[in-house]
Amino acid sequence: MNSGLVNKIELDEYLQRQSALITRALEDYLQKYPGKSQTIFQAMRYGVLPGGKRIRPILTLATGELFGAPQSSLLPFACAIEMVHAYSLIHDDLPALDDDDLRRGAATAHRVFGEGMALLAGDALLTEAFHLMSSPDAMRCVAPELVVRLIHELSHAAGVGGLVGGQALDLEAENENDVDLATVEWIHVRKTGALILASVRIGAQVAGAQPADLGRVSRYGERLGLAFQIADDILDASGQTTAGEGAESSHNERKKATYPSVVGIPQARETLKELLQLCLDELATYGAQAAPLKAIARHVVARAIHGDSKSLSEEINS
Ligand code: IPE
Ligand code: IPE
Ligand code: MG
Ligand code: MG
Repeated sequence: MNSGLVNKIELDEYLQRQSALITRALEDYLQKYPGKSQTIFQAMRYGVLPGGKRIRPILTLATGELFGAPQSSLLPFACAIEMVHAYSLIHDDLPALDDDDLRRGAATAHRVFGEGMALLAGDALLTEAFHLMSSPDAMRCVAPELVVRLIHELSHAAGVGGLVGGQALDLEAENENDVDLATVEWIHVRKTGALILASVRIGAQVAGAQPADLGRVSRYGERLGLAFQIADDILDASGQTTAGEGAESSHNERKKATYPSVVGIPQARETLKELLQLCLDELATYGAQAAPLKAIARHVVARAIHGDSKSLSEEINS
């Protein structure tokens, strides 16, 4: 899908279509296990299937398609990234980390299945991601040497140099009074940014993108990753985590190191606008071909900038 997205309805349809594609592929993949009625499979499915926006795998598809990869080659990698994301949320919500009771408008996995099973479901999803990337199905579409490089890249993004490292400092910075902006940014770039960056880079590499193209989408991904967490924290701080439900996350009472808590909501919104512009600048050279990636970036920041989504169609057309 490389044609222009010209309005909010087209963007919504695009996101729904891509999200449904990912959900079906994840369902198929998780079906393969015998004994799938066991609690561990229920907990894995609960963590990965209902309610996620699928922004990361949609980014993988959009970037891969921009450089000409077929969906069938991209899907195993896109699903693996969503599994890593789902694991990170299940563990993030545990009492030992953010201790949250709600996620995507429903009870968190440990609230439904207990802490032990939630911990194991997260472990299983993380491990399955790499099992899927190295599966014969994935290797049929993508050369084995490239698969190894992509596994290397995703494991770095998910590991202590990325998501886990960011989560660790996020935990240590909790309730500290003098966390500076550079530290907040360090945390965001790792806990959230690394996986978003990997999502676009993996899509581009499956498509065999040239180094200059990989550079451009990497800069887009870096800025979008930071923007994503700032937007999420603005929505939390202003009680809009999920439409109509108020804040789900315990960030406010836990005194997390966030952009809104360090520089205030107005300045955090200014930073978001700047990051959005930088994202769009990187894609200018691709014209309408990059419409999905541009629209996704606008979509990620729009609600946090405007306080609602009414101005999204203006944003899309700007
Ligand atoms: C939530 O990510 C966690 C952050 C990194 C801020 P998403 O907002 O992408 O979560 P889902 O998968 O759509 O629920
Ligand atoms: C989630 O960060 C980031 C990861 C799980 C790696 P947050 O703790 O800020 O996100 P929410 O508010 O729980 O979705
Ligand atoms: Mg957290
Ligand atoms: Mg959290």
